[in-house]
Amino acid sequence: MTKAGLFLTFEGIDGSGKSTQARKLADQLRAQGHEVILTREPGGSPGAEEIRSLVLEGDPDRWSAETEILLFTAARRDHLERTIEPALAAGQVVICDRFADSTRMYQGLSRGDLRGLVDQLHSLMIKREPDLTLLIDMDPDTGLSRAKGRQGAEERFEDFGPDLQKKMRAGFLALAHEFSDRFRIVDGNRDMDSVAQDVTEIVQAALR
Ligand SMILES: Nc1ncnc2c1ncn2[C@@H]1O[C@H](COP(=O)(O)OP(=O)(O)OP(=O)(O)O)[C@@H](O)[C@H]1O
Ligand SMILES: [Mg+2]
Repeated sequence: MTKAGLFLTFEGIDGSGKSTQARKLADQLRAQGHEVILTREPGGSPGAEEIRSLVLEGDPDRWSAETEILLFTAARRDHLERTIEPALAAGQVVICDRFADSTRMYQGLSRGDLRGLVDQLHSLMIKREPDLTLLIDMDPDTGLSRAKGRQGAEERFEDFGPDLQKKMRAGFLALAHEFSDRFRIVDGNRDMDSVAQDVTEIVQAALR
């Protein structure tokens, strides 16, 4: 059993397998007797889930880039206050599907260079970084075709296309270099169980 909580995040481009791997890891850790909170961003608390529909549904031009960063930060602050911090304080393992690194990438890079703004807001309102971030790295075209296989209302960001996916992949790898103490890169171009095996080894080492 863990004594202090552990904050794990999954990051990577659309369709890289974050949600799949987060679920598998949660199941596995629970089977080992850990108390696990599986959560996601944007969302993860009632208020943040309401903000999630504001940012993921509707017209692609619904928000300016700056307003969008404020909404993501507001959602993250609520998620942190209501869900993440209480769980960590209780010694639980928090597995979060996307976190601040996704905002650094998508809101920081996709519509102009707003990374500075994202970082300033983060240091004012969020401060917390994960203990460990698993970056599922993969070929952008495969990721896109996997992601497009799904249907739903959350499509505001789905039509960015292959060029943005390539840029995001490179951006995530650069971020892993920038925060090399907490990032681990997993090769996502393999079947789910092989990817899960790597994830397990990395997380078991962190739990020891
Ligand atoms: N290793 C894998 N091999 C083949 N298919 C996979 C693999 N991992 C996940 N998938 C499938 O690809 C699709 C996307 O996976 P998943 O939803 O886990 O990705 P994601 O990173 O959470 O995507 P998004 O960023 O859009 O939320 C799903 O249909 C899933 O079943
Ligand atoms: Mg997902």
